[in-house]
Amino acid sequence: MVILGIETSCDETAASVVKDGREILSHVLATSVQMHIKTGGIIPEKAAREQVKSIIPVIEEALLQASGAGGWRLEPGSSSNLQSLISSLDCIAVTYGPGLIGSLLVGVETAKTLSYLWKKPVVPVNHLTAHIYANWLTGNPTNRNLEPELPAVALVVSGGHTDLVYLKNHGQMEYIGGTRDDAAGEAFDKTARLLGLPYPGGPAIAAAASHYPLPTTHYQSFLPRPMISNNNFDFSFSGLKTAVLREVSNFQHPSSNLPLPTSAFAYEIQEAITDVLVEKSLRAVKQYKAKTFLLAGGVAANSRLREKFELRIKNNKLGIDFRVPPPELCTDNASPIAACAEFNYHPLSWQQISANPNLSIMN
Ligand code: KG4
Ligand code: ZN
Repeated sequence: MVILGIETSCDETAASVVKDGREILSHVLATSVQMHIKTGGIIPEKAAREQVKSIIPVIEEALLQASGAGGWRLEPGSSSNLQSLISSLDCIAVTYGPGLIGSLLVGVETAKTLSYLWKKPVVPVNHLTAHIYANWLTGNPTNRNLEPELPAVALVVSGGHTDLVYLKNHGQMEYIGGTRDDAAGEAFDKTARLLGLPYPGGPAIAAAASHYPLPTTHYQSFLPRPMISNNNFDFSFSGLKTAVLREVSNFQHPSSNLPLPTSAFAYEIQEAITDVLVEKSLRAVKQYKAKTFLLAGGVAANSRLREKFELRIKNNKLGIDFRVPPPELCTDNASPIAACAEFNYHPLSWQQISANPNLSIMN
């Protein structure tokens, strides 16, 4: 199928055209992150207003790129390509949740309008499930050997969610565990703020951690690894934020004239979060006898997390395939939305679709 994917759950406005759930024909993204950097976090109404401004140009550019015309302003003579691309679309896939309601509505209502105009079905897509499908965007629709083998265990780590699921087959998912409080991305974002680092915290912590001199074998950790030994597959990251606050305040005490060792803190925060994610996920992989481990979501762009999974899976000879999308497909974008719709094709008419900000990965 040829699917137009639309993603507007947070501060990205994105559209992609994807063939057979594997080949990206176009990939366009506008973000209002620069505006949120100034405020140190997302202001939902501002994010939604930016979505309204960007949605039509972004979709238009995605269609033009896929039709081979390029650019988002219609060039003379390119309209026929665009029309034939539109008529070749099998459906429109759109994120309907979870996310910020104002942002979600922009994508959902635009998809419904296009569906009405073009007489195409709409596939409502769960944003969290879609993150996993970034692993199917191999670029090669004919060689099915390249795609992940099922059953798999998947870890979705994003700004608002941390979920471990067992993917028996497409459309057959079982919940294994998840965070009881803050998500992994949220832990990066909140602790970064305590260190005075900019939003979004994940990339800022990763960058600061890279300046920390490579620790010797005697590296002394000083933050907790929450729930790492518990006999379940749940996570909890809110205590980490409190622990960082306590440690940081030692440096901010009037009697302290030591500068805050930002890169050491960043390194330790990244170690603490990634240690827990790796340990619990690999335990789930073993217990569920998965053939593949799939990493997904914005935090999956973290190179230390990717490296730890790679090393543990290789060194422990776990005999499983480890898949993680390229970093630009881990963070929010529309290509996985279209891929997810290909493998979970449940089209609806526009009247049946509405945004659901509180959707969980199991809906
Ligand atoms: O999936 P995503 O793009 O948006 C949501 O669905 O939430 O994830 C955003 C989260 C943010 O918390 C951000 O700090 C984190 O992903 N993130 C990272 C990195 N890049 C983005 N966390 C750690 N290391 C990174 N390189
Ligand atoms: Zn996301």
